[in-house]
Amino acid sequence: MTVEKKYGATLASGKPRPIGDHPYFVEDNEDETGFITIPEKYHKLSSYPDFLPTWDRKEKDPPYEFFEYEDPGTRVKDTSLPNLFPKDEKEEIKITKLSPKLGSEITGLQLSSLIDNDKAKDELAYLIAKRGVLIFRDQDLASKGPKFAAKLVEYFGPLHTHQTSGHPKDVKEIHVVYRRPIEEDYAVVKEIAGRRSWHSDITFELQPASYTFFLNIDSPGSGGDTLFADTVEAYKRLSPKFREFLETLSVAHTGKDQAQFSGIKGGIIRREPVENVHPLVREHPVLKEKILFVNQGFSRRIVGLKRGESDVLLDFLTGLAENTHDLQIRAHHTPGSVVIWDNRRTQHGITFDFDKPVLRHLARVTATGERPVVDLKYLNDINYKP
Ligand SMILES: [Fe+2]
Repeated sequence: MTVEKKYGATLASGKPRPIGDHPYFVEDNEDETGFITIPEKYHKLSSYPDFLPTWDRKEKDPPYEFFEYEDPGTRVKDTSLPNLFPKDEKEEIKITKLSPKLGSEITGLQLSSLIDNDKAKDELAYLIAKRGVLIFRDQDLASKGPKFAAKLVEYFGPLHTHQTSGHPKDVKEIHVVYRRPIEEDYAVVKEIAGRRSWHSDITFELQPASYTFFLNIDSPGSGGDTLFADTVEAYKRLSPKFREFLETLSVAHTGKDQAQFSGIKGGIIRREPVENVHPLVREHPVLKEKILFVNQGFSRRIVGLKRGESDVLLDFLTGLAENTHDLQIRAHHTPGSVVIWDNRRTQHGITFDFDKPVLRHLARVTATGERPVVDLKYLNDINYKP
């Protein structure tokens, strides 16, 4: 089928920007059923072409419904983590703290080897929650393919399907992050004067993300690092009086802007976008600690406050994690790296510091978690109202 290509305003590069259709429609292939694939030349560039994105205009998902969630990390009794780090292998496994409270880098342990070891996966969940971010180097996980990666992560919670993004063919639970090494793509980066991209994944869902696994497929040697901020520590920095006030508040989170953005670009919207209200302070089921649960990406309004009051408070609270560098660490993506984070205990953002068109390809596999509650006594209570 030949479809007429439409063009809108020009990009900074002087090239025309396609409008009214998929963002990369200008070069992608769409068949008569609405299935979109990217050109063959990119398959040749990719280290793992199985992870390249596809889009299907026919794909429509029903809304998510409430389910009870038990965090695997809560099953851990022995915090020396003997299954994840067996004594005889401890010599080869190296764990380095990235900062005293947030983030650890681990070498010498293959995540793929945990696939049938539930006790080790429980301990992994515990460790992710404890450290917030784990960076595993030199992993073979991507080489095992999208289905294997999805199977490993689904142990940590029902996998989330992104509402708009492309996914590997036949594995809709993987959200593909893909930047092409072409001038048209770089032009979009060049148009950004300063960008705040901080968020934690899918906080607009009734049951947002617990753990996210981020597999590097192809990344530039430098550029596009992921920054992380500690939401437990951010909460602790506040005065007791102020914390007491915050614990009485709840926040409306929306997924509508993200869906609308895709719609304007002619992309797909796989599921009706939702808004949900969550407590501003939530308790972590593994750590049993309070978290500041608010982010610039999806939090829009503090319920019950006037607009001006809400805006000022949101600005202060989101700025706390974003602007306080001693709450942060930075993850550099390297060949074979897998970065895992706890979305309750951290926020993250991409660094748009590319100096030329680059290939950047990562696969995000996200487990959904418990419905956020201000106090764990409400955990898995279907009637809980924040
Ligand atoms: Fe994210």
